[in-house]
Amino acid sequence: MTRELHLNAIYSAAGGNLGGWRAAGSPELAGVDFPFIARQVRRLEAAAFDAVFIADLLAVPDSHPDVIERVATVNDSLEPITLLSALAGVTSRIGLIGTASSTYNQPYTLARTFASLDHLSHGRAGWNVVTSLIDAEARNYGSDTHLAHADRYRRAEEFLQVVYGLWDSFDDDAFEWDAETGRAFRESAIHRLDHAGEFFRVAGPLNIARAPQGRPVIAQAGASEAGRAVAGRHGELIFSGASRLEDAVEYADDLRRRAEESGRRREDILLFPGLSVIVAPTRAEAEDRYEQLVALTHERVALGDLEYWLGNVDLTVHDLDGPLPEFPQSNQSHSSQARIYETARRENLTIRQFVDKRVRADGIVVGTPEEIADRIQTWFEAGAADGFNVSFPSLPGSLDAFVELVVPELRRRGLFRSEYRGRTLREHLGLDRPVSAHAEAEVEAEVAVATR
Ligand SMILES: Cc1cc2nc3c(=O)[nH]c(=O)nc-3n(C[C@H](O)[C@H](O)[C@H](O)COP(=O)(O)O)c2cc1C
Repeated sequence: MTRELHLNAIYSAAGGNLGGWRAAGSPELAGVDFPFIARQVRRLEAAAFDAVFIADLLAVPDSHPDVIERVATVNDSLEPITLLSALAGVTSRIGLIGTASSTYNQPYTLARTFASLDHLSHGRAGWNVVTSLIDAEARNYGSDTHLAHADRYRRAEEFLQVVYGLWDSFDDDAFEWDAETGRAFRESAIHRLDHAGEFFRVAGPLNIARAPQGRPVIAQAGASEAGRAVAGRHGELIFSGASRLEDAVEYADDLRRRAEESGRRREDILLFPGLSVIVAPTRAEAEDRYEQLVALTHERVALGDLEYWLGNVDLTVHDLDGPLPEFPQSNQSHSSQARIYETARRENLTIRQFVDKRVRADGIVVGTPEEIADRIQTWFEAGAADGFNVSFPSLPGSLDAFVELVVPELRRRGLFRSEYRGRTLREHLGLDRPVSAHAEAEVEAEVAVATR
């Protein structure tokens, strides 16, 4: 079978760009405006997008007040699983991927929530596993500081093992619904977990039938050494922040190798680099829209964004025309911080020049439908991407433009499907439905008996 391109939308109601919420046509309180969000997601579904993905943060960040009051996206948004559950009712095919933290949740809760979403949506749920980012989140969950980087990835690893165990609580054929005997399910087809580990003690079983997909799809984005290790073992749909082709290829190769080292197949892991697009029928129009967007990003917000990803530092006390100071490794995203320093060194940038790059939404792809499709095709064919995590700088305009201009061009090239062929998110992505660990153990036991 020929390889098929996938499209996942990173959906942020206020727009993916720092100043996107200020764009003409963007509704007020877009983050909590369900009818508005539902309209956009149904447009994505009409275009046969594989999935919509909702990011999350468990706090209002500690950024400077001048920054906070100008940032809509993270500060005004619905809780992802609640939103996706509502979307499950007004859509029928598009995958629904929600972010949830392994640091500030218990595995029983999340196993139950995502299994429920998978049932509600008839097999369209995905979980973006994050370990969370900042102290402000910790302070909402009983601690002053965020759990240390290495500890939270260890916790994530155990968290996932527990969740998988819970998702396999009921065998697929456990339920009999035998009204005559009065037996709803076979007791032998329900499994306790009795997990006792470093972080969790969970007895199980989970009180819900096995999910339609067996397991909701696991999405992952950690790109530090520890993050890659978890992604290689568990990630099925991998988000990456790489903006250069060679970095994306290196990342894809590394993760596929890690997947193989953990006993998985290369094709069990799909790479989705981010792609932010401004598209218009002509280059001049696209450039014009881009300049309009750039004008909406306040410089203090761009500086604040840089401060945030460097680990909530204060850059205002430094000479903005000097080099980026060497801050110690933060306890936030190791890979994001490292990427900032790599770029600053490679391009020899002052703080002000770096901020200007952020104002100008560096990395955004601006062009005609053909140019955008060229870029997508090049990355896809180079093995840097199995799909893209498309973000829309402002809504509804840039989502409409992508759907109306880029998607038809991708179809003309035979790269993207015209309609859904499957029902579940796994079917859209070409990922196998995982067999329950108990069913696997049974088969192994039968094979052992047969070969004795
Ligand atoms: C496309 C993308 C989306 C992400 N979404 C979230 C998110 O919604 N919430 C979150 O806490 N972290 C999010 N992250 C951060 C990562 O999941 C990860 O926790 C972070 O990069 C720290 O990982 P590292 O130290 O391994 O680099 C995202 C990262 C990427 C690249």
